[in-house]
Amino acid sequence: MLNRFQFSRLRAFRFGGRKSAAGARRDERSADANGLATSETVRDSWEGDERVARLLARRAAAKESHRNGAIERLGERVSASGAVAATAAPVAPARARTSHAGVASTVETPRTSPEGGVQTARSRQAAESTARRGAGAAVGTSSARVVCIASGKGGTGKSVLASNLAILWAQQGERVLLVDFDAGLANAHLLLGLAPPYDVGHVMEGQVTAREALVEGPHGLKLLAGGVGRQVMVDPTRRELDRLFKALRPLEDDFDLIIIDHGAGLSYSTVAHLAATSTLILVTNHEVTALSDGYALYKRAHMVNPALRVGLVVNRAPDERIAMDAWERFRFASHKFLGHTPELIGWIPADLAIPQAVQMRKPAALSYPDCAAVKSMKRVADWPPIDHARSAQPFYERARRALR
Ligand SMILES: Nc1ncnc2c1ncn2[C@@H]1O[C@H](COP(=O)(O)OP(=O)(O)O)[C@@H](O)[C@H]1O
Ligand SMILES: [Mg+2]
Repeated sequence: MLNRFQFSRLRAFRFGGRKSAAGARRDERSADANGLATSETVRDSWEGDERVARLLARRAAAKESHRNGAIERLGERVSASGAVAATAAPVAPARARTSHAGVASTVETPRTSPEGGVQTARSRQAAESTARRGAGAAVGTSSARVVCIASGKGGTGKSVLASNLAILWAQQGERVLLVDFDAGLANAHLLLGLAPPYDVGHVMEGQVTAREALVEGPHGLKLLAGGVGRQVMVDPTRRELDRLFKALRPLEDDFDLIIIDHGAGLSYSTVAHLAATSTLILVTNHEVTALSDGYALYKRAHMVNPALRVGLVVNRAPDERIAMDAWERFRFASHKFLGHTPELIGWIPADLAIPQAVQMRKPAALSYPDCAAVKSMKRVADWPPIDHARSAQPFYERARRALR
């Protein structure tokens, strides 16, 4: 850090005479009296001097690193280890699947296998996924794709979207794990109509293994429930999170897709996930409060993980015009202040079928599969980055590294 006194000393050096500290201070005082010696004016008068330029650069760097707090360093640690950026695994799209949106659809016709048998779409997917796992193991990649679902503000519809996406993907033959990581306020099990005996808190405390804590839901999807009212999940320490991530690591070998439903906001555990994942679905509503909190989360996510693919979903919008207006505001603010924007995945209309499905504890994808909201969710499920949501090293190993 260069103070005014040091600037004066430098000035003295420049004019050839080494002044005493007191002399330099006297110069400073008289310059101050004339309104001349602010660091700005000193800086101007020293333009072109290499030593001063170097000192100024060092000072700016010190300021910058001071501004970046512990959370920002999470991302640095991960990318410094080469884990996230630029190392997206060179894997083929996850599967050839029928597009919900009717765009780029791959028709699932039975194919004759080399052995002469008929491969069904499902067995082909299983074979493809096995091949992918093999390829992943060969280059040390994780086998599961991991998608985080988060929002700045609570109640935007993350859990509704996460549970329905999990079902939509499971319906297509994917081995899906839904992890409810809403610290202490979990409800994905309610949305799916399940009553799990164990949750992520039990895994964190070492009472059961991660595999033992899973419960089966519709279409064979598995749920790792979150803790309801459990203090241990509200504010876990770094050591507890590390133990949990280590315990969850084996699950990556058992699934094709892991969807992580986060609590609202920027808890330490959410940021650790964001530093490690390659793909984030950011859920917002059209209200200014939800947009503003969503922007804050997007900004932080990009800070800890510049390579992150972020897709925005405007949920529960009254109509398309309002949804697009909200997107435009988000896009404008992030472009203006951050210089980059997320991608728009789409919007989901406010639909009475959703609260009715919640009440019935049967996700809308099953209870009202043709309702407008589910149709839009199907388009979210088709967002292409989900097919590539994988990095060179296993997700939970990167998350653990982010904590160090
Ligand atoms: N598209 C929608 N249309 C109508 N209601 C919705 C929609 N999405 C979510 N909701 C309602 O919002 C409530 C909160 O959703 P939830 O997924 O629990 O939010 P979060 O997980 O973000 O806190 C749900 O109980 C549901 O009834
Ligand atoms: Mg939720």
